[in-house]
Amino acid sequence: KKVYVGIDLGGTKILAVLLDERGKKLHQAETATNASEGADAVIERMIALIREGLEPEHRLKSIGVATAGTLNAEEGIVAMASNLRWNQVPLGKKLRQAFGVPVSLENDANAAAYGEWAAGAGKGTKNCVYVTVSTGIGTGIVSAGKLIRGRDSSAGELGHITLDWNGPRCACGNVGCVELYASGTSIGRSAQRLAADRPEEAERLLSLAGNSPITSRHVAEAAAAGDALSLGVLKEAGRALGTGLVSLIHMMNPEVIVLGGGASSIGEPLLRPMRETIDDVGIPSMVAGVRIVSPQLGKEAGAIGAALLVANA
Ligand code: BGC
Ligand code: NA
Ligand code: ZN
Repeated sequence: KKVYVGIDLGGTKILAVLLDERGKKLHQAETATNASEGADAVIERMIALIREGLEPEHRLKSIGVATAGTLNAEEGIVAMASNLRWNQVPLGKKLRQAFGVPVSLENDANAAAYGEWAAGAGKGTKNCVYVTVSTGIGTGIVSAGKLIRGRDSSAGELGHITLDWNGPRCACGNVGCVELYASGTSIGRSAQRLAADRPEEAERLLSLAGNSPITSRHVAEAAAAGDALSLGVLKEAGRALGTGLVSLIHMMNPEVIVLGGGASSIGEPLLRPMRETIDDVGIPSMVAGVRIVSPQLGKEAGAIGAALLVANA
């Protein structure tokens, strides 16, 4: 029986799926990344995770890996993944040596975009954009039925498009990036800053966070209970996200935008200002043609997309 492996390599966990020839999921497993132990240890865990799902009757055909950051996809090298502190790691070669099958790397959001388009919320469309609000902001673009990869699978970095050219510098080198205003990280950071300035308005947030820094999860929880400071933070983040999405709509003219990651779990306090911004400033005829939907593949989108991309190549 022919089987295809897909891996999502994240900063905190590694998720693996095993698909059959028709794309049906046979097995799924995950393990902690423990990036601090170094790349070799992480790759060993990845190999063990793949082995664990294989049965004697399986004939492994290929492995697809989705990972954040920049790649040298051709060479199978993870060029720079800041969430893992990886630099020039020859992941493709190591997996090829372990399993003797073709291995292909893809940006995490690009892989998720392909997965949602081929088998999820974007199925049946030709022009589908996927955006995830997580630690960073990731984007993948399917245009005219093809994943836009660019030279080395780095196309689709909405998170690093400038919203404010007078803005602060981003870790990527650019200034005023969307990710600095609308990612999970930035939502936690703005709430933390406001809470330090105006502690009397941040009682609920500060008690939710206890002794640790305020995260986007705390902000979402407080906002759901009507906390004004948190609602304000999410309104700003939603406006920033909406502004970024307008650029994406104007560039790509999509039929559907699949909004994944924290965007779907935070919900209306983020999504309402986002939609209002899109309706307010987007070119009306272009905005009217776009459906904004929730993902269907859940947290497996990246792994499934990575597997399908190699299997369908
Ligand atoms: C990275 C992208 C990635 C996104 C989501 C961003 O910071 O630049 O490559 O897709 O985070 O993980
Ligand atoms: Na991308
Ligand atoms: Zn940036």
